[in-house]
Amino acid sequence: MSGTKTTYNDKVVRQFAVMTVIWGIVGMLVGVIIAAQLVWPELNIGFLHFGRLRPLHTNAVIFAFGGCALFATSYWCVQRTGHTRLWGGPLIPFTFWGWQLVILLAAISLPLGITQGKEYAELEWPIDILITLVWVSYAIVFFGTIGKRTVSHIYVANWFFGAMIIAVALLHLGNSAALPVSFLKSYSAYAGVQDAMIQWWYGHNAVGFFLTAGFLGMMYYFVPKQAGRPVYSYRLSVVHFWALIFTYMWAGPHHLHYTALPDWTQSVGMIFSLILLAPSWGGMINGIMTLSGAWHKLRDDPILKFLITSLSFYGMSTFEGPMMSIKTVNALSHYTDWTVGHVHSGALGWVAMVSIGSMYYLLPKLFGKTEMYSTKLMTTHFWIATIGTVLYIASTWISGVMQGLMWRAVNADGTLAYSFVESVKGSYPFWAIRWLGGVLFLSGMLIMAYNMFKTMAGGSTKDTPVIVPVGHHA
Ligand code: HEM
Ligand code: HEM
Repeated sequence: MSGTKTTYNDKVVRQFAVMTVIWGIVGMLVGVIIAAQLVWPELNIGFLHFGRLRPLHTNAVIFAFGGCALFATSYWCVQRTGHTRLWGGPLIPFTFWGWQLVILLAAISLPLGITQGKEYAELEWPIDILITLVWVSYAIVFFGTIGKRTVSHIYVANWFFGAMIIAVALLHLGNSAALPVSFLKSYSAYAGVQDAMIQWWYGHNAVGFFLTAGFLGMMYYFVPKQAGRPVYSYRLSVVHFWALIFTYMWAGPHHLHYTALPDWTQSVGMIFSLILLAPSWGGMINGIMTLSGAWHKLRDDPILKFLITSLSFYGMSTFEGPMMSIKTVNALSHYTDWTVGHVHSGALGWVAMVSIGSMYYLLPKLFGKTEMYSTKLMTTHFWIATIGTVLYIASTWISGVMQGLMWRAVNADGTLAYSFVESVKGSYPFWAIRWLGGVLFLSGMLIMAYNMFKTMAGGSTKDTPVIVPVGHHA
């Protein structure tokens, strides 16, 4: 074959893939700890109390675990589908080490109470600047690689990864605008209701782009690869892409129902959230139907089990989300555990499961092996994770609806039927079940780590040669 001989950059993918598993364990361990603190309040020790650890959990699972999974899979996918080596020289290792430094700084600053107080955007301004530098480098590496691809087509997974990179840059810059008053303290550039609106424009699109679009990129690459079949409908994937990214941007106000935000804005948020059901399910159907004609593979392939189950949870949470955005439903669900249940059906069922499936696909290839050390342990992991997720979301749904109903129950004379503390007491058994679900999910991750280290042992870390199409130069 003619063309220049080169290799793919597998090193950076390997680094991010291993850290996905490590940060997954750390982030979920903190999740298990805060879940335990709710059941046994005496576990709130010193400054390591629920209030400090909760943002540590969300940052660790979303940005450390989810972020590393996104970097690993997008770098793998953009090279393979573009038939070219990753472009960007020193910027490539900078994205890895820079991102790890962000995580480390988060792990130090959040327990110390250094925070901007904006959910999912807690990190103070010097760390925000570092995030910007890493993210811009990521964009240069990703789009630079797209630019030097040796096939004319840009595979749809890269559209989703690319949209995620651009949208997250916009969100981060928009929401983090702040006035520093000292090295560790800043105040938001926005005030009052505008601040709330910008925050939830950010918050919801962090869900839409960081926790969804990028992971849909994973789906579009790894489901067809593992199933050994082309994506069900390429046309649907294009419609899915444009409909999803257009609609998500408007849905943020559903986080601010019944607040000082103008009523019409809340209604716009609700309507766009309802519309969002269509592209979300379009994507899910496209992923699941990719397996049509090959359903039997689900029986003994744990990677497909993870990937296809993640899509079912994606479908479930994107049905539930639009329902919760309806104002009258939100009047019951808001402030309750129902929201937390919804979050984790997306976070554990969708984000974590699709990442785990993708990592199981990548890890052996990154260490020169044909498969993971133990397929049996992967299957065990799958079942533990599924049971853990179901325990988590079922218990928080029940406690959530219970809390909402107790808070609104009134006696004949109009006084409240229950005190707040009674609703807390009623929640304890469900919080204990949620904790158990978390322990199971975390145990699955520990099994994964064992399987990963066994797979790494004695493995080769040589870069894979690029197969350059005739007449092209990599
Ligand atoms: C069509 C898709 C979706 C819609 C319309 C939607 C809608 C909603 C609504 C209405 C809330 C409750 C807001 C409140 O009462 O405070 C919510 C909360 C949330 N959702 Fe979704 N959701 C969707 C999908 C997802 C997915 C797939 C994930 C995760 C991967 C997710 C993660 C979250 C998070 C993290 C929150 C909590 C935000 C907070 O208060 O901190 N959502 N969503
Ligand atoms: C072992 C697994 C996990 C456990 C035990 C766990 C536990 C918890 C607990 C106890 C909370 C606080 C709920 C409250 O304030 O009442 C929480 C919040 C949250 N967790 Fe997890 N979690 C786990 C995994 C994950 C993963 C993998 C993700 C994301 C990919 C995630 C994302 C979140 C988010 C976004 C919130 C904030 C929800 C909100 O504000 O409504 N969690 N988690």
